[in-house]
Amino acid sequence: MSDFVNGFWGYFISVVAVGGVVWCVWLLYTQRRWLSTKPVNGQVEDTGHVWDGDLTELNNPVPSWWTWMYLLACVFALGYLFFMPGLGEYKGSLGYSSAEEVARNQAKLAEAVRPIYARFETMTVPQIAADPGAREIGQRLFLNTCAQCHGSDAKGGPSFPNLADGDWLHGGSPEAIMQTITQGRVGVMPPWKGVIDPKTAGDIAQYVRSLSGLTADPVRVFRGKREFANYCVACHGVDGKGNQSLGAPNLTDEVWLYGSSEATIVQTILEGRQNRMPAHEDVLTPDQIKILTAWVWGLSNKPDAKPQATEKTAAR
Ligand code: HEC
Ligand code: HEC
Repeated sequence: MSDFVNGFWGYFISVVAVGGVVWCVWLLYTQRRWLSTKPVNGQVEDTGHVWDGDLTELNNPVPSWWTWMYLLACVFALGYLFFMPGLGEYKGSLGYSSAEEVARNQAKLAEAVRPIYARFETMTVPQIAADPGAREIGQRLFLNTCAQCHGSDAKGGPSFPNLADGDWLHGGSPEAIMQTITQGRVGVMPPWKGVIDPKTAGDIAQYVRSLSGLTADPVRVFRGKREFANYCVACHGVDGKGNQSLGAPNLTDEVWLYGSSEATIVQTILEGRQNRMPAHEDVLTPDQIKILTAWVWGLSNKPDAKPQATEKTAAR
């Protein structure tokens, strides 16, 4: 009840709740004369309505057990409102809170699963990544918390990075992955509309395409290269290989977050891009983050696999 935006609603609810009970009692009180009507000489008062010629509608008072139940319900309601939270901001004399109950249950659950995670406490991320039990937990955590954005195979999609390709915006070390999951990341490519005209943006796009060996017009590549040096190298580097501390992608590796067509690159340049990986420190426990880090790390660091950085995802 402390979630109301202003105090008025707390009072409103209190008035409705207490007023409702008072109204019920008042109703019973005003009807008391009729409730206590006793049959005179075994003759019950009738309402004066007669149906089908001889069916008389009687006016029997309700039985006394009903009256008592009605009163008890009113007493119960008042008692409940005294002991439990229910009257606006009033917390109830017993101090019960459903939020605390949830927190207690969560703590109990954390206690119950602790032995499962305890095994991984002293293990390094590569060791956890090699552990089949941990991989199973990691996969389930990923499907629950991450797959809606990164896909159930972790291969991402437009604007959501592929986590299995060995190519990293923010770094693929266990520490970098853990920081990404814990604190989240933002990737901001500034918009250049008004600074760079669309034709020049097209030239730059041709140059960007040439960096990863895609077909490009040599004359426009030549012009684009000059402009790239003016506007883009601060983040993407002189060689276009990007900068992980800024989350600026490598433009030479055939891995595309948005796409490699001239139109898409021009759009990226003119409109800019804003991308956010949400922080998970309030969603997952440190134990879970460690397992997930190992699971994600293990996707591109398989002991038996070749480096996958050159794998083509350009088709997207
Ligand atoms: C709401 C969507 C969303 C969810 C949920 C989400 N992510 Fe992300 N994640 C993103 C986006 C968008 C980026 C790219 C950020 C950028 O462009 O800099 C990203 C980036 C990352 C990166 C960095 C990739 C790189 O190349 O450096 C990792 C690692 C990652 N996410 C892992 C996870 C894990 C593990 C989870 C589950 C706990 C998760 N993400 C949940 C949207 C999401
Ligand atoms: C302030 C730093 C900064 C500057 C300057 C900058 N970029 Fe970016 N760029 C980024 C970041 C960060 C991203 C990733 C955005 C995201 O995470 O969604 C990005 C993304 C891109 C992409 C998308 C790559 C893909 O995989 O789809 C292209 C293309 C690109 N930039 C080209 C350029 C060009 C061309 C210029 C010069 C006109 C430029 N950038 C200038 C920071 C910058």
